[in-house]
Amino acid sequence: MNNHAPVMNQEMPPCAHKPRPYGGPTRDDVLAERRQYYNPAAFTYYEEPLMIVEGFMQYLFDEAGRRYLDLIGGIVTISCGHCHPSIVNRMQEQIATLQHTTTIYLNPLQSELARRLAEKMPADLNVTYFVNSGSEANELAVNMARAYTGHTDIVALRNAYHGTSSTSLGLTSLHTWKYPVPTGHSIHHAICPDPYRSPFAGTPEEIAYKSAEDIRDLIQFSTPGNVAAFIVEPIQGVGGVTYGAPNYLKHAFEITREYGGLCIADEVQTGFGRTGERYWGFENYHVVPDIVTTAKGIGNGAPLAAVTTTRDIAEALTSRLHFNTFGGNPVSLAAGLGVLDVIEEDRLQENARAVGKHFKAGMESLRKSHQLIGDVRGIGLMLGLELVTDRSTKEPAAAAAGAVMEIAKREGVLLGRGGLAGNVLRIKPPLCVTIADVDFALSVLDSALTEAVR
Ligand SMILES: Cc1ncc(COP(=O)(O)O)c(C=O)c1O
Repeated sequence: MNNHAPVMNQEMPPCAHKPRPYGGPTRDDVLAERRQYYNPAAFTYYEEPLMIVEGFMQYLFDEAGRRYLDLIGGIVTISCGHCHPSIVNRMQEQIATLQHTTTIYLNPLQSELARRLAEKMPADLNVTYFVNSGSEANELAVNMARAYTGHTDIVALRNAYHGTSSTSLGLTSLHTWKYPVPTGHSIHHAICPDPYRSPFAGTPEEIAYKSAEDIRDLIQFSTPGNVAAFIVEPIQGVGGVTYGAPNYLKHAFEITREYGGLCIADEVQTGFGRTGERYWGFENYHVVPDIVTTAKGIGNGAPLAAVTTTRDIAEALTSRLHFNTFGGNPVSLAAGLGVLDVIEEDRLQENARAVGKHFKAGMESLRKSHQLIGDVRGIGLMLGLELVTDRSTKEPAAAAAGAVMEIAKREGVLLGRGGLAGNVLRIKPPLCVTIADVDFALSVLDSALTEAVR
C-alpha cells in the first residue's frame, strides 16, 4: 500500500485557502538530505515521512498541495491556528523593527506579556520569566523551588513527560525517552492516578486518594523528610492523555505542602484554553499551584515559554546572577501577545469546549462499535483514544495504533501518538478546529479502526 498518496474516501470540509505553488526541492531529495545530514534521533511519523510546506489554521499542505486536517498541531503547539494572520502580522512587524535585545534592556513587550499572563493567573501568581522551551521552563521552575525552599528532592509522576534536557529528563518518567546517562538527581516518581492502568483498586476517587498518598510514602521513605516541589501535568500529554479523578491534585498539593514543597503545574500542553472549561488545566481541579510553566501554545509555533510564580518565590533567583539570551525575545513575545488576543477574539476557549465535547461524544460512540478502543479520555481539545488488543487484559495495541495513524493520514487526517507503549492516539488540534472537521475526522477514524484490524 502506498501510504503517501491520500485516497480521499471521505470529504474534508471545504477551505478557501489555496496553498502557493511549491517550487522547492523534491520530497525525496529532502528525505535523502535529512537522512545524510540530520541527527537520526529526530524521528518522523509515518512509513513514508510526510513533507509539510504550508499551513493555514487547522490545515497543513504537503509539497503537492494536498490538504491535511491537523489534529496534533505540531505536538500541541499550534493553539490558534497555523500562520494565524493576525499573529503573523504582529511577528512580521516586530521582526522588521527589532529582532533581539535580551533582558539587559527594557522592552515594552516583555513587561506587557508578563502582565497579561498575571491577569490570567490566580491572584498571587504575578511574576514571569520568559525562556524558549518547555524543558527550560521546567528546569528553571525546579531551580526556583530548590532555591526558595532550601530543599532538594522533587516528586514527579510516573508516566510524566516534562522535557528532554538534563533535569527535565529526570522529571520525565517514561523509559522510552530516557538514555542511560545521569539525568536530574533527587527526583522521585509517584504512582500515576490514571484509573485505567492503576495498580490500585477502587473507584477513580479512591485510586486518586491512594495515588496521592504514594507521594507521602515517597517523601517518608526516599527523601530527608521534606521536598522542594511536586511537579505535575494536570493532564499528562505524551503519556497518553492520562489524569486522576478531580480529588487527586487537591490531595497531592496538600501532602506536598505539608512536607515543605511547592506545587508546580506544567501547563505546557493544557494551558491557554485547551481544556475548554478553563483557561488553565489546573483550574479543572480547583487547586492553585505555586509555580506554573507554559510553552508550546503560548507562542503558536514561536519559541516561547514562561515560568510564572509569586514575587516571593521569584525573588529566590536573585541570590545569584541569572541570564537567558533569548528569554523574552521580542519576536516570540509579539507572537505571545498575539496568542492571548486571538484566544479572546476568536473565542477559542469556548470553541475548545463545544467542539471538544462533540469530539469526545463521537469517540465514545466509536468505542461502542470498535473493540480496539479500550478507553476514551480527555477534556476539551485534549483527547486520547487508548487502543488495546483485548479489553479485559488491556494489552496495548501499539501496532494497530500505528496502522490507524497511517490509514488516517492516507485519508487526510494527521493524528498524534503517545503512551508508554505508543498505543494511545492523541487528538490535540489547533483550537480553531470546527464541528465539520470533527465529523470528518470521526468518519475517518471509524473506517481506519475497522481497516486496522482487518
Ligand atoms: C507537558 C510537557 N512539558 C514539557 C515539555 C517539553 O517542552 P519542549 O519540547 O519545548 O522542551 C513537553 C513537550 O512535549 C510537554 O508536553
